[in-house]
Amino acid sequence: MARAFVVSLSLLVGAMASLPAQTTHPNVKELDAQVTRFLDERRGSWRDMNVPEADGRLLHDLIVEHKYRQALEIGTSTGHSGIWMAWALAKTGGRLLTIDIDEGRYREAVANFKAAGLAPYIDARLADAHDLVPTLAGPFDFVFIDADKDWYTTYARSVLPKLRSGGCLTAHNVSPRRRWSMTGDFYEYITGLPTLDTKVVNGGLSISFKR
Ligand SMILES: C[S@@+](CC[C@H](N)C(=O)[O-])C[C@H]1O[C@@H](n2cnc3c(N)ncnc32)[C@H](O)[C@@H]1O
Repeated sequence: MARAFVVSLSLLVGAMASLPAQTTHPNVKELDAQVTRFLDERRGSWRDMNVPEADGRLLHDLIVEHKYRQALEIGTSTGHSGIWMAWALAKTGGRLLTIDIDEGRYREAVANFKAAGLAPYIDARLADAHDLVPTLAGPFDFVFIDADKDWYTTYARSVLPKLRSGGCLTAHNVSPRRRWSMTGDFYEYITGLPTLDTKVVNGGLSISFKR
C-alpha cells in the first residue's frame, strides 16, 4: 500500500476532534450472547499477533470497572483485543478508535467487528500510527498500545497529555527486565513518571493509571 495514501488518510481523519458521544447498548444480554458466540466460534483461530483471551478479558474488565468511554488502540491487527474492548465500551456508552497500517488485517478486523455486532462502537482507521496519533485531539481515558514495539515510548509521550486524570494506559509485551524487553526503554519510562501508577500483569501487560 502506498505510504502517501496512508499519510493522506491520516491527515484527513486527524482533523477530527474528540470522538462522538455514544449510548450504551440497548440490550446487554443480547449483546453478551452475540459476542460470546462470536468469540467461542473463533477461539484458537487468532493468528495475527493477537492478544490471548486472558489479556482481552482483562482489557474488557478494566474498561467496565472504571467506566471508561474514550478508548484508543494502536495496533488493531485482525481485531481480537478490539472486540474485547468494544464489548466493554458498548456497556459503558463509549467508543474505540483503533489504528492499523496493514490493509489486509484492517479489512479483516472490520469484518470481525461487524460479525461480532460491535461495529457501531468502533472507529477503525487504516493509517500509520506514527502520523495519526500525534494529530488526535483526545481526550482519552483508556489507551492500549500494541503496535511496533520500539515505538512504545514515542506513542506514550504523544498520548499521555491527552489521557484524562484517572485514565489508564495499557501496553502489550512489556517486560520489566530490559534484556528480555521488546519495547526498549518503555517500562523504565512509564515507571519513572510520577504521574503514573504502573504494574505488569499476565506476564507482559502493563497497566498504568494516571493520577
Ligand atoms: C501485535 S499486532 C496487534 C494485535 C491486536 N492488538 C490484537 O490483539 O488483536 C500489531 C499490529 O500493529 C500494526 N502496526 C505496526 N506498526 C504500525 C504503525 N506504524 N501504525 C499502525 N499500525 C502498526 C501491525 O500491522 C499489526 O497488525
